[in-house]
Amino acid sequence: MTATLARSTPSCANRRPVADSRAPDGAGSFARDLAVALAATPKRLSPKYFYDAAGSRLFEEITRLEAYYPTRAEMEILATFGAEIGARLPAGGALVEFGSGSNAKVRLLLAALRQLRVYVPVDISSDFLAEQARALAADHPALEILPLVADFTHPFTLPPAVRRGPVTGFFPGSTIGNFEPPEARAFLSDARASLGPGAAMLVGVDLVKERAVLEAAYDDPQGVTARFNRNVLARANRELGTDFDLSAFRHRAFFDAAAGRVEMHLVAEVAQQVRLGGRIYRFAAGESLHTESSYKYTPDGFRALAQAAGWRPERVWLDGARRFSLHLLAS
Ligand code: AVJ
Repeated sequence: MTATLARSTPSCANRRPVADSRAPDGAGSFARDLAVALAATPKRLSPKYFYDAAGSRLFEEITRLEAYYPTRAEMEILATFGAEIGARLPAGGALVEFGSGSNAKVRLLLAALRQLRVYVPVDISSDFLAEQARALAADHPALEILPLVADFTHPFTLPPAVRRGPVTGFFPGSTIGNFEPPEARAFLSDARASLGPGAAMLVGVDLVKERAVLEAAYDDPQGVTARFNRNVLARANRELGTDFDLSAFRHRAFFDAAAGRVEMHLVAEVAQQVRLGGRIYRFAAGESLHTESSYKYTPDGFRALAQAAGWRPERVWLDGARRFSLHLLAS
């Protein structure tokens, strides 16, 4: 994930998220980052630009695909071991979710954390955050919900009310796999600082496995992931007035076993050019735009990474088919 500068302001008594004046997901940084991506060799863009409204809907669709196992596997872990996880976390504390996309996972966790006092969903998209917070508040009237609009890839300041009790971070979905390993280590170390002394953290991490299973998960037969990938070009056409010909780019996903990551690319089928901000960028035939890396870890590999970031690995839970892991870290 490319670094975007964003510092967040905590919201106060109400449930309205606080927007960052520097608009970390605004059109300004997209235009700038896309221009840099198109001028680079090889061409490479941050996956954070997948998630406009259309992209977020497509991702939700991906999570329901037969081939895309990570969401179901993680939900299985939370449903199966919820009580055990809850018993290992301190009572009366706060749960801080990093990049809370949808509520589904935290709902499973909340069911196990009966004595939770505060829930702080941290996300870059304020609209989705407000909507999800309202839905959750209806079902958990006693829970204080303090949504925070922030780029969680950088240190942020928690509302003081949160720090009055024990704090647990929650980073599900293997979103950590989008970072290059040194960035993942820096993220975990920053998160440790943001959460404060004595915090714990639950991190969902996809596991290294057979190539066929991994590649099917990122290149489903229904073509939803291909549409999700191409949506970043469609988004640029909508928001930045570029003239990408979507039909001229092929979706490509493959597992690089040596690097431990699945890569997604958009490959130009023929030589072409695209206009952005009065400039022309060229693609040679077969040239690709690298849109995402999704790193996979072994349980030991991730424990080592967490340790290097200053955390103490406490416990790891796997789903029945051993496809996905949920790590509990202590500071
Ligand atoms: C949301 C980053 C965890 O890497 O599996 C799904 C995104 N990309 N299909 C992942 C994604 C293609 C997803 N993460």
